[in-house]
Amino acid sequence: MNVSELQQKILELKKQNDVCVLAHSYVAREICEIADFTGDSYKLSVDASKVGNKNILMCGVRFMAETCKILSPDKNVYLAQPIAGCAMADQMDKQLISQVKENYPNHTVVAYINTTADLKTICDVCVTSSSAVKIVNNIENKDILFIPDCNLGAYVAKQCPDKNIKLLNGGCPIHACVNPEEVKAMQEKYPEAELLVHPECVPEVCALADYIGSTSGIMDYAVKSDKKEFIIGTEISIAEHLQYMCPDKTFHILSLKLICPNMKSTTLVDVYNCLCGKGGEEILLDSKTITEAKKCIDEMIRLGE
Ligand code: 13P
Ligand code: SF4
Repeated sequence: MNVSELQQKILELKKQNDVCVLAHSYVAREICEIADFTGDSYKLSVDASKVGNKNILMCGVRFMAETCKILSPDKNVYLAQPIAGCAMADQMDKQLISQVKENYPNHTVVAYINTTADLKTICDVCVTSSSAVKIVNNIENKDILFIPDCNLGAYVAKQCPDKNIKLLNGGCPIHACVNPEEVKAMQEKYPEAELLVHPECVPEVCALADYIGSTSGIMDYAVKSDKKEFIIGTEISIAEHLQYMCPDKTFHILSLKLICPNMKSTTLVDVYNCLCGKGGEEILLDSKTITEAKKCIDEMIRLGE
């Protein structure tokens, strides 16, 4: 079977089995093409909560599927590739953060959405890369413990100078790998290009950027910009999607290190197998975890409005 035949079969199975397929923009292009919704982690879970389908299939990483389950507890939520974790989300667990919280009893605990459902149960409010600055600014408390990403946290701290933000030493090993020297080399090679980076990159890299934003933010910016050439400082799939969306513009990949192996572990065959009931994993969370973790996500929605 070739790719388009497999895609056709997937489209039929989706309909037959009442499945809404979500694809994060970092997964392979042939998966995004058959998805009902594509986008960033927050948009996908909100999209999923609004559809009528009984079944949701997440093509992304585990915390994204968990977030869908928290927002749609009555739906059956599946992760297409069970090994697809997130290296950042796996860095900090409930036990560690419970201990850290004891040292910061008066701090509001702000968790990046890239955290496990279990950890979210003891946090006060969630943020995404696109909403973090607004939400932190809207929190009444001045004292914030921001987990797990110290790079996103440093970016937020810079935008929210009135807050006292305590950071821990976590982050995305993929984005954090890029160093300012290689960025400067790319800027010298492509002097006309604008540099767009994800805030998971280190502060020294963010300092060189023309725009800092989430995956969706970067895509919107590049599509709307009058500029014709860009260096894309996030997972390489974003440059690929943008090149299809804007054939008259040129997109350079900032670094070949920007490949997320977890996001790339889902294949079109995994999607097909899952729709045939032969693969994937149903996300099962107990009702206490759902209720407690949802408080943190509800707070994100309230403070993000
Ligand atoms: P977004 O929230 O921008 O989709 O980012 C998710 C992610 O994992 C980035 O590495
Ligand atoms: Fe997690 Fe980084 Fe991959 Fe995003 S790019 S899913 S933060 S490991």
